[in-house]
Amino acid sequence: MACERLFHVDDMFCFNNINVDPYTATFSPRFYNHYMTMWPEMCVVHETVCGLLAGYMIGKAEGRGDEMHGHVSAVTVAPEYRRQGVAKRLMAGLERSSQSVGGYFTDLFVRSDNESAVQMYKNLDYVIYRTIKDYYGVDKPDAYDMRKPTPRDLEIGSTSLQYRDGRTPEVERGGWVDYEL
Ligand SMILES: CC(C)(COP(=O)(O)OP(=O)(O)OC[C@H]1O[C@@H](n2cnc3c(N)ncnc32)[C@H](O)[C@@H]1OP(=O)(O)O)[C@@H](O)C(=O)NCCC(=O)NCCS
Repeated sequence: MACERLFHVDDMFCFNNINVDPYTATFSPRFYNHYMTMWPEMCVVHETVCGLLAGYMIGKAEGRGDEMHGHVSAVTVAPEYRRQGVAKRLMAGLERSSQSVGGYFTDLFVRSDNESAVQMYKNLDYVIYRTIKDYYGVDKPDAYDMRKPTPRDLEIGSTSLQYRDGRTPEVERGGWVDYEL
C-alpha cells in the first residue's frame, strides 16, 4: 500500500526521477541531513506500493513569537504520479506540523512562472503575501511568498497585507538563503 513516511538518508539516492524537474532544486547532502536532523517530522516522502518515491516534502519550523511558522522548503512529485493528490497530502501533513509546533502560519516561496504550483497553493487557500525580486537570481522570475494561516492565527493576522509596523509587504528584494546550506 502507498504510504507517507519520514524522509531518511537513503532517499537522497532514490529521488532522481523526481528531481529532474526544472522547478525542483537538488541541494547538497548537508542540506537534507540538516533538515532531517532538525525537523524530521516535516521531511516526509510518499512511497508507492512498489517502494518507489512518488514525491516528498522538505520543511522546517522557524520564527519566534508570533512569527513562528512552518516553511515548505521543497515539495515535489514525480511527473507520473501527479494529479493524484500526493502534493495535497504532503502539504496537509506539513500544515499539521506547523500547527503542532505552535506556528501561526505555513509559508513557501514559489517562482511566479510556476503556474501549476501557484494554482495548487491557491487552491489550498494560500495567498500571495508579497513578491520578492531577485530571490532566484537577477533576471529570473520573481518569487511569491505565499502563506496560509493556521487556526492559531485568529488574532495575529499573519497573512494580512500590512506589517505591524505599517509597511506593506508587496515587493522586496532578497536572496534564497537555503542555497547556502
Ligand atoms: C506542483 C506539484 C507539486 C503538484 O503535485 P501533485 O501531486 O500533482 O498535486 P495534487 O495532485 O496534490 O494537486 C492538488 C491540487 O493542486 C492543483 N493542481 C495541481 N497541479 C496542477 C496543475 N498542473 N494545474 C492546475 N492546478 C493544479 C489542483 O487544484 C489539484 O487538485 P485537483 O487535482 O483535485 O484539481 C507538482 O506539479 C510538481 O511536483 N511540480 C514540480 C515541482 C514544483 O513546482 N514544486 C513546487 C515548488 S514551490
